[in-house]
Amino acid sequence: MINFTHNIPTIIYFGKGQVEAIEAELKKRAEKILVVTGQGSVKRNGIFDAVIKQVKKAKIPFIELSGILPNPRLKSVYQGIELCKKEKIDFILAVGGGSVIDASKAIACGVLYKGDVWDFFSKGVRPVKALPIGTVLTLAATGSEMNGNTVITKEDTKRKLAIGSPVLRPCFSVLDPEYTYTVNRYHTAAGVADIMAHIFEQYFSHTHAADVQDRIAEALLKVCLKYGPVACKKPADYDARANILWAGTLALNDLIGEGKEEDWASHAIEHELSAIYDISHGAGLAIVVPNWMKHVLSGKTINKFADYGINVWGIDKHKAKESIAFEAIEKTKNFFKTLGLPVTLKEVNIPSDHFLKMAQSAIQDWGKVGSFKTLAERDIVSILKSSL
Ligand code: NZQ
Ligand code: ZN
Repeated sequence: MINFTHNIPTIIYFGKGQVEAIEAELKKRAEKILVVTGQGSVKRNGIFDAVIKQVKKAKIPFIELSGILPNPRLKSVYQGIELCKKEKIDFILAVGGGSVIDASKAIACGVLYKGDVWDFFSKGVRPVKALPIGTVLTLAATGSEMNGNTVITKEDTKRKLAIGSPVLRPCFSVLDPEYTYTVNRYHTAAGVADIMAHIFEQYFSHTHAADVQDRIAEALLKVCLKYGPVACKKPADYDARANILWAGTLALNDLIGEGKEEDWASHAIEHELSAIYDISHGAGLAIVVPNWMKHVLSGKTINKFADYGINVWGIDKHKAKESIAFEAIEKTKNFFKTLGLPVTLKEVNIPSDHFLKMAQSAIQDWGKVGSFKTLAERDIVSILKSSL
């Protein structure tokens, strides 16, 4: 295991009715807040009203920034920064899924930065301060509610880039499984695929003897296999929604990645797809991940795939490692299919036109991606071709 420092200061309020925690949290932390929302789901399902009731109880003045798009755009980040400056905002409350939370994080660090917020994403400048943020999560997927990451798309260049900083971790997050009941089947399934992909990015690693992280990772994957289909079929199943929600948070809050070399190649490839074609991140991952798995499977990586097949899918350990690995990859792909997700680029109308451009863009900053197997431009093109 590699040395690490474990510090996750986000307070999680998990369960029914936990929205009430907002009143005391805001009283402690805020003078005037910006409430950030997406395209209107929280207005239709009553979550916005429940949150605003608490804001009013806390007697904290607020203004609103609505309309954040899935795959959030830099334009709305600039808009939020202007609003915060003009209105002297000192706290941001994000009410929504990963896109709303990510936009809020980018606004939070952009407000206190003298230069262009895009510098953080494109020039390697690290945010060292940010306005504090709180979140009310409405979709289980990204883990943004407990991590310091944000992913923003610059519209004109179609670059979708991620940054991470401890100053971007939310102070608190409200996770009420009932708030995810209205997420439709497609986004529920895409969220499950995203959670699983986060686990894979950290699980498939050459770091030796990180058993604690790996066994937790396998348990989280099994939770996704058990409850993902239930949440898709029965949207108001509390146990399914609760388990998927908590699995999503733990899948990307550092718990299973600390002390390990991580990969993140599938994400780098998917971000190129959603940057250009604006598809759902989780759907893009359902297409890329099984093909990434096939591509990186080799004598050097087969043991990990065998662990995955045996411990997660229950494949007979007496079989040859190679067949366990292939079976596990096939089962992964079929699982995404049964959730109703696309598993080929054709299903989301993505042709081969920009493969080379996407591969070049994915490796632009580091000259390569991934660590379980390092991928160069030609590897990415090959994964994309096999995804057709
Ligand atoms: O816009 P609204 O009206 O809110 O509707 C959203 C959106 O259409 C809807 N939705 C959310 N909660 C709902 C709901 N509909 C009904 N009921 C509810 N309770 O779902 C749609 C998708 O929402 P979005 O926030 O875009 O989804 P997600 O949470 O999957 O976030 C995806 C974004 O996060 C990035 C992705 O790349 C993508 O841009 N990621 C962020 C990460 C992070 N910060 O750590 C890591 C991830 O790997 C990922 O890259
Ligand atoms: Zn993801």
